This record gives sequence, C-alpha cells and structure tokens, in this order.
Amino acid sequence: MRAPLRPRSGCLVLCLSVSLLMLLLQVMWVPPETARDAPPGRGPSDREGPRHSVRRLALRLDSLSSQMQRLAREREEPPSAQPDIVHILQTFRQEHRNLQQTMEKELLHMSQKLDQLLQRTPAALPHEHASHGGLPRACEVPNNPEFALCAGKVEFLRASWRSDACYAFYGVDGSTCSILAYLSEREDFCPPLPGRNRTTLPWHQQPSGHKEEAVIQTDFRPLYESMGSGQGPAARFMRSRIEGLAARWREAGESMRLRIPHGAARRLRVLLYPGILAGGTGQRFEETLERGGPLGELVQWADVSAAIFVLGHNLTFAASQTRLLSLIGAAPGRGSCPILRPLPFDLIYTDYHGLAHLQGAMGLSFQHYQCRFRILDSFGTEPAFNIREYARRRGYSTAWGSWGLQPLQYMTMFPHTPDNSFMGFVSEVVGSGWEVSTKEHRKEDMAVVYGKQEYMWQGKKGYLEVIGRELELHATVFQPPGRPSALPDFISNHGLLPQDRLQQLLLRAKARRSRRRGSARECDAELISQLFVGLGFPYEGPAPLEAVALGCVFLQPRFQPPHSAENSNFYQGKPTSRQVHSQHPYAEDFIGKPYVWTVDMDNSTEVREAVRAIMRTEVKPFIPREFTCEGMLERVYAYITHQEFCGASLPAWPPEGALSARLGALGQSCVAVCRRASLVCEPALFHHLNQPAAFKRLGLVCASTEREVDHLFPSYNPWGRRCSLQEDQRLFSCAGAHPSYSRLCPCRAYQPGQEPRSDSELPEGPRRFLRPACPLCRARRSVKLLRREWFLNRRRSVAARALAENLPRVKHKGAHYRR
Ligand SMILES: *[C@@H]1O[C@H](CO)[C@@H](O)[C@H](O)[C@H]1NC(C)=O
Ligand SMILES: *[C@@H]1O[C@H](CO)[C@@H](O)[C@H](O)[C@H]1NC(C)=O
Ligand SMILES: *[C@@H]1O[C@H](CO)[C@@H](O)[C@H](O)[C@H]1NC(C)=O
Repeated sequence: MRAPLRPRSGCLVLCLSVSLLMLLLQVMWVPPETARDAPPGRGPSDREGPRHSVRRLALRLDSLSSQMQRLAREREEPPSAQPDIVHILQTFRQEHRNLQQTMEKELLHMSQKLDQLLQRTPAALPHEHASHGGLPRACEVPNNPEFALCAGKVEFLRASWRSDACYAFYGVDGSTCSILAYLSEREDFCPPLPGRNRTTLPWHQQPSGHKEEAVIQTDFRPLYESMGSGQGPAARFMRSRIEGLAARWREAGESMRLRIPHGAARRLRVLLYPGILAGGTGQRFEETLERGGPLGELVQWADVSAAIFVLGHNLTFAASQTRLLSLIGAAPGRGSCPILRPLPFDLIYTDYHGLAHLQGAMGLSFQHYQCRFRILDSFGTEPAFNIREYARRRGYSTAWGSWGLQPLQYMTMFPHTPDNSFMGFVSEVVGSGWEVSTKEHRKEDMAVVYGKQEYMWQGKKGYLEVIGRELELHATVFQPPGRPSALPDFISNHGLLPQDRLQQLLLRAKARRSRRRGSARECDAELISQLFVGLGFPYEGPAPLEAVALGCVFLQPRFQPPHSAENSNFYQGKPTSRQVHSQHPYAEDFIGKPYVWTVDMDNSTEVREAVRAIMRTEVKPFIPREFTCEGMLERVYAYITHQEFCGASLPAWPPEGALSARLGALGQSCVAVCRRASLVCEPALFHHLNQPAAFKRLGLVCASTEREVDHLFPSYNPWGRRCSLQEDQRLFSCAGAHPSYSRLCPCRAYQPGQEPRSDSELPEGPRRFLRPACPLCRARRSVKLLRREWFLNRRRSVAARALAENLPRVKHKGAHYRR
C-alpha cells in the first residue's frame, strides 16, 4: 500500500492544474469565426460557440481529467495495476507539457485579437443617425429586473453587431435604439420600446390551424419527387431502396389503414434533413459510399421517409444546407439571429450533423423549437452525456452529446437503451425474381464474409482459415484499381457489390447448398441455411439482419473484454457507456441461435464446432416483427401520435400499475436488471421510485437519505446504508451503472418482437419501447377504441346493407365514414 501513494499525490497536483487550465479556457472562450462548419455537439447554452482549437483542447483536457478521476477511483485495486498507472502518468505528463505549449500559443493569438477588437470598437458606434423607421431618437438601456440579461445583451451587440449581417438585416445599426428594438422584437431579452408595437415572437404564435387528416398513401411518386431527381450516390441508393420495398410498404400500409381509427391523425408537416449528406461531411460521405463506406444510416433514412410518407404526412426532404436555410426561413447572415417566420414544420427529423446546422442557422429560435426535433442517432445518447453542465462536471463530455434534448428524442438503429426511442429500419428483402436464375450453379457450400473494406480484415486470417476449411469463402471487398489484394488467397473476392447484388450472392449461395443437400435427401430449398461471417467490424449494422431475413446464419465474434469508449477508437467520444460484447449485440440477444452464433474468434475449436453445427442445422428466413415494414409503420405511427416533448408535464403513461420495481445488484444497470427478469426498463416510471417509501417497499433500511443530481439515482449504497434520490428528472437513466450502487429499477412487461397482444391494442401501436408522454393519452386511447368499435360496426352494417340491396360495396375509406 506504500507504492501507490506517490502517483496519487501526483494525481492530485495534476488534477488541480487541469482544473485551473479548464477554468482559464472557459474564461477565454470567444465567438467562432466559422460558425457554419462547426462540429456537431454545440449546446444551446453557448450558442456563440467556442473556437475550434480551444474546444478541442478543452475536450482533450476533459478526457484527461476523466482519466485522472478513473485513476483515483481505481486506486484501491491490487498492486498489479501499478505499472499501468505509472505509464498513464508518464503519458499524462507528456500531454500536459504539449498542452501548455499549445495553450501559450493560443493565448498569444487571442490577446492579439482582443487588441484589434478594442481598436476597432469606438468607430463602430455611429450614434448620429439613430432615428429611422419609427425608432425614438434617444434610448436608455432599461433597468428592469424582469429583463435581467438586457443590459449585457445590449453591451454585446454594441461591440459585435457587425459580426453577423443578420443584425443589420433586422435593422440594427449600432445605435442603442436599434439594438433595443431588435432585442425586444426579434429576441426576448429586453422590454418593448415605448411607441412600438410588440409583435408576438414567432415561437409563441399558435401554429395555423391546418386540420387536414393523415390518410395512408401508397403511391410513392410524390415522395420520389420531393427527394429530387436522384443526384448523387446517396439519393440514388435511398430511392432504389424505397422502390425495391414499395410492394411491402403498400401491403403494410393497407393493413394499417384498416387498423388505425379514421380522423385520429392530423397530417403533419415533416422535414427530413439528413445532415450527414449536407455540407462538407456530405461530400466526404458520398465519396466513401463508392468505396464501401457505411450504408447503415442511409438504409434507416430511406425507411424512415417511407414510413412517414405512407402514414400520410406531408414530407419535405432537404439534402443540402442551402435548401435547409431556405425551408426554415433563416435570416441572411451567419445564423446568429432568429428565423424570419414561425417554423413551418411540426417535426424535423435530422441527425447530429443536421442539429449543428440547425443551431448555426436559427439563433435563438433553436431553443424554442428544439422540442420538435427528432435525432436519428445510430448508437444512442445516454442521459449522463446529454446535459452539458452535468457531463462536464462528471467527465462525460463528448464531441457528440450535450445537446440537452429529452433522451427520448434520440432515435436509435437498434434498441440499445430504453432511454432513447428505438427507430430501427426494415430488414425485409428488397425486390425479388432472381431465385430462378440462381439455381443453375452448383458448387461447394459457401459463405459470404461481411466486411467491405480491407482494414476490417486485418488480423482475422486464423479465424477465416478455420471457416475456410469447412466452406468456400466469398468476399465483396472494395478493390482500388491497380493494387494487389491484401486478402488471404483462399477468399474469392467479387469486388464491391450494390446491396441487391450482395443479396443475390447470398441467395445464390443458398441455392447451391440446396442442390447438394437435395441430392442427399429430398429437401425443400426454403429450409437450407447459409453462412454470413462477421469480422467484428462494422458494429451493429443492418446487414446481418438482412442476411438472416434471407435465410442465412450469421456467425460473429464475441468481444472479451467488451468493446466500449474505454478501449475502442470507434466508441470513444460517442455519448454512450455501453459495453458491446459482440459485433452485433441485438442479433446475439434478441435473435440468437439457430440464426445467430457468437464465438470466440481466437478459439479454433469453438469456431470449427460452430460452423459444423450450423452446416447441420436447417434455418428458415427470419425477420423479427419490429424489423418488418408493418412493425416499423406501427412504431412510427405510435411515436408521431404519442411523443410530445413541447409540453412540461410528468409522464403519465404507462400507468403506475405497469411498474414492477426491482433492486439491481451492485454495478448493474437497469437495462440489465430488467432484461434479466424478462422485462424492459421504463424511464417514464422512474418518478414513482424516486421517493423514500420506494426503498421501504423493497425491504431496504436507510441510515440516511439524500437527494442529489446524479444519473445513477435513485440508488442504494450498502456501505453506510445510504439511500439516494434523484434531484433532476432529466437524468433518470436506465443505462447508468456503478460498482458502489444498487439501482432502483422501474421495469415493465413488454411484448417480445413487438407483437401486439390482440387486435384491439393496435391504436397504441407496438408496446415494446413506446410510451406516450401526454397525460391525456389513456383517455384518448379509450375514446379511440370506442370510435374504432363504432367504425367497425358501421362498416359491417353498410356491408350488410350493400349485400341486401345488391349494391357494390362502398370503399371503407370514403368520406362517408368520416366524422
Ligand atoms: C401598431 O399596430 C397598429 C394596430 O395593429 C397599427 O395601426 C400601427 O400602424 C402599428 N404601428 C407601428 C409603428 O407598426
Ligand atoms: C406540404 O407542405 C408544404 C410546406 O410545408 C406546402 O407548401 C405544400 O403545399 C404541402 N403539400 C401538400 C400536398 O399539402
Ligand atoms: C475453446 O472452445 C472449446 C469448445 O467450446 C472449449 O471447450 C475450450 O475450453 C475453449 N478453449 C479456450 C482456451 O477458451
């Protein structure tokens, strides 16, 4: 116990200096020079934004200080950890020195800037021409306690109204009167000027009462039109995906039409803005697409647009920043001012990049409209990373998190944590018709390897050799022209294939297999399994689900230790603390054998046994219901109908009766606790557990009870029998876990695979990850059920009458049935 003392005191000194540096940085932050291309992750609290390099420094310091905190926490670990500590300390000292040098340079740069600014300021105050457009001649900065920020804002605009042309556009000319007019009429920081009409701020205006009904639409032409003429590989990909699935969407739409009550849904104006396709990132992204870059996001964007469109909403698609600015009515300039008109959309689906673009274009309007945003966020954002101040204090700051939206506004690719909404995608097979042409081939059993780029194959040779001894291995790896392949020579590479050709390859593999087996015994081609081999990367993409949907088996490596922000470059900086225990945890946990096998890649015995077992198993195509068109329509319908983040009420659904309270073991998250009990964690029920009586009901005796801001609370700490309650409702987290705490978990039952229990439950949609946030939902739900009952009866009687009178049956969709 002697040795760790010195590193620890070193820790303290370094921690202190890090804090000092951070304090300095915060003081020195100045508005950015290039607001448009800022990385995503800037929160509303500093909408002027920090300078990039300074922000990078701060992030670096943040991560260093969280490393130090971790060190401090781990100091009770056995002595074997000491060399690590010494090593980390050395790296830390080195980093520290580098940082100091960079800091000095930055500070010098900043002081020069300040000098320049100070020299320019006096000239920038033209007091003379202060009267035009009905402004008073002279204005005083009011001293009104209701507008405490007014004086500061006036000061700020006096110094920097020229920094953005939008101020001049809104009539600011540097005079106090014009500034006060702007701050009272366009923003809400100052009281209205005498003699001027106070216009209602756009975000306080009620949306114009368009009461059009959302009616299922299955003719996709307007959708294609709004997506543009298909320029660029991304747009082409999305359009061809929707075309390929159009028949399934139509089928699903028709079946939804029968099940959703008429007149229940208002036609919403929805904007889709995939930020990843816009601006600088967009260009880079489209370039990588042609070299085997990630398609997962585009798959999801295509399916989300199709689902929203089928449900009958008015969809607008923006794939460039310029179009976004014109659609939302941004003021000219660099985006520091509010938008010109009330936001013309009820919902905006975007991603983290798009969120940054929106913030950089809307000024103050951003905060007022952010409850209408939905963020497609493949990997999820846990509550601990979501609130800037909290994240900064606790070492959870990341380049992506900190936007402070409701955790449920983030929509994920897979159900990672119930703290976010699970959006998903469709894994049904695109197109059909090649089954015939593929039956001619006949060869050995074959497997297709999942990995489009060569770097994914590094270090996997041993694993592939073991599989290659049992099956013929095929690859679809991008091959730059003129370069020799770096793949092992027992792999036959087909080059990068479009999505449908990859599926064709998988299907062809299946057909070959069926011939061979067919000769051994009579065997239905439908029943034959085929292998899709995961290499460990990419993580959690759509391809394995599509392979399983074709009737292939997915074989993937287990990660021991699990991959996470701590040990994987990919997850580092992502706002999640998940421990990813295999390449595709959803496939492992929710699909599993016989469709998905997870093996230790380095254990050749295990790999060989798994491959042989898979070759003996016969597997039918399988699609979890939540990944069918119908499942996705139900989910999107439920989200659009029930999720409401613009009000301020406590969640009242699901009712307290659904609560099944559990006490977790030390170190377990509520996600794990509930899953172990075959339940699901329900963040909307947390507030029922956030009271002293909850501990008593779970049989716990508290020596002390405290209330704190901490995403791990409510929790119980057995050392000292401390009971802790949550102070900030936004930090209720299913995902949070810590070895010192037993968490109080609000679990509830769910329908596996999103299967509705009975037809009558459908108006609420899928039950698995959904919760309407409005207090009136239960009442509304019963009204809806009644209405639906009425509608069905009515339909029956009309059908009966038509039959009796020998009339052609009236279409149930007609105006006839509307209220
Ligand atoms: C203020 O509003 C009134 C009535 O709405 C209008 O007649 C008047 O012209 C407005 N004054 C200014 C300065 O806009
Ligand atoms: C859809 O919304 C846009 C603007 O939000 C509007 O201009 C257009 O007319 C709407 N289309 C339909 C068919 O309602
Ligand atoms: C390898 O896998 C086999 C079969 O699953 C198992 O019995 C064996 O213990 C494993 N070996 C190692 C070193 O993990």
